[in-house]
Amino acid sequence: MHRRIFVLGGLGGLSGLGAAAGPRSSGPAYPFSMGVASGEPAPDSVVLWTRLAPFPLAEDGHGGMSSADITVEWQVSATPSFARPVARGTSTARFADAHTVHAVAGGLAPDAEYYYRFRAQGHHSPTGSTRTAPAPGASARDLVVLAASCANLEAGHFTAYRRMAEERPGLILHLGDYIYEGAGKPGHVREHLGPEIVTLAGYRRRYGQYKSDPDLRAAHACAPWLAVPDDHDVEDDFAGTHRLDDRPPLTPAQWRIRRDAAYRAYREHLPLRPGSRLHRRVGWGRLATFHMLDTRQFRDPQACGGGYRACPGADRPARSLPGRAQEAWLLDGLAQHRATWDLIGQQVFFAEQVNAAGVANMDAWDGYRASRDRLQRGWVERRVRNPVVLTGDVHTAWANDLKADYADPASRTIGTELVCTSITSRGDGSRVTRIPTGAVNPHLRFYSDRRGYLRSTLTPAEITADFRAIDAVSTPGAPVRTLRSFKIQNGRPGII
Ligand SMILES: [Fe+2]
Repeated sequence: MHRRIFVLGGLGGLSGLGAAAGPRSSGPAYPFSMGVASGEPAPDSVVLWTRLAPFPLAEDGHGGMSSADITVEWQVSATPSFARPVARGTSTARFADAHTVHAVAGGLAPDAEYYYRFRAQGHHSPTGSTRTAPAPGASARDLVVLAASCANLEAGHFTAYRRMAEERPGLILHLGDYIYEGAGKPGHVREHLGPEIVTLAGYRRRYGQYKSDPDLRAAHACAPWLAVPDDHDVEDDFAGTHRLDDRPPLTPAQWRIRRDAAYRAYREHLPLRPGSRLHRRVGWGRLATFHMLDTRQFRDPQACGGGYRACPGADRPARSLPGRAQEAWLLDGLAQHRATWDLIGQQVFFAEQVNAAGVANMDAWDGYRASRDRLQRGWVERRVRNPVVLTGDVHTAWANDLKADYADPASRTIGTELVCTSITSRGDGSRVTRIPTGAVNPHLRFYSDRRGYLRSTLTPAEITADFRAIDAVSTPGAPVRTLRSFKIQNGRPGII
């Protein structure tokens, strides 16, 4: 089956749905300007997302919609003609939810590819491609998973999202910083609308601006996503209920309102399963289990006030990055040994990276060393065969061996970490591939300062990890190329 992204146009056989697609000249304005998305693939269901917003940049955050709730129809089909939909239903796009829709399309076949679309106010949405997961215990076809993070609209064009769509992946992991919260600053490639966002209307409008980008919409329409937020989806470097600093100045009540608004807007605009926790597991037959972590909401504050520091307090055993409950949840899931590969999708740098002066990033797992040790020892004790950590946040690409004892380079390699660079953050970057701190951290094996994403091809025998890079985000349309490829073999942690 060809899995292409296209805008529906003039297809027949749509009993009761009409055939008009795209902007119309009369009647309500075209409401699907923010595109479609899918996510959370299960063996029998997938979440379908859209938002009605004829004017996504409207300052009130309501996208040009009135206060009426609107009924939206959706269809799922095995073919792009939708001649015989296999599932259909209606959802209510509520004003209270900024007219976002999260429809759970159920009754689907496992390990199958589908097309989907919506209809509302006399208009059809674009058509998206999605798929379901293989059944528990079932053997699975090879799977191409893309991982991405950190798409600051001001830092560049979203070309990497376009190239991701062209890969026709089976699944996309978005590891945080889907939006950036900062004020518009002139002099960049593009400019955020408005001041730093602290209100629900502001976050909704920011999603409207980001989803106005056709490259981002293409990445959503091509495959199901598993997305987790990081700090910039809310506020730079926040930790749990704590702010790292009082910028912008907010009272505690204002901060609570901001945080709630940011999470609410994130849930509204990403194809998450309604009511689901952000840390969750998604099975992919016998091939893989995806453990998605939330490393922001439950963390202790950064040690020594955050930043890059030599901080003995970072070692305190009581400190946790995901929180003790989520640590236990992760280890319980890893102990189930449901699949060949245990992929841990999360936000911040996992491997130790300490410079010669003992300075490390207090926002990353180096600032929560006991928490990392508990997880690493925990998966070794549980004989987890193939743990692979997938990471965003640092705006550069890395491949790391995870060590039983980072102070001893000869100690066992007990896992692997792949860090996916950014979509745009940090700008064009450079050709530099010399590993920062590599001399004192020999387990860090690869580094690149280019923008792009990570492509992992999963088979029962091995993972092939390709670091995909684009050389420019300051100009549109850059091609993508593979900078380096690594293998991870079943039963042999670490990259080769
Ligand atoms: Fe970022």
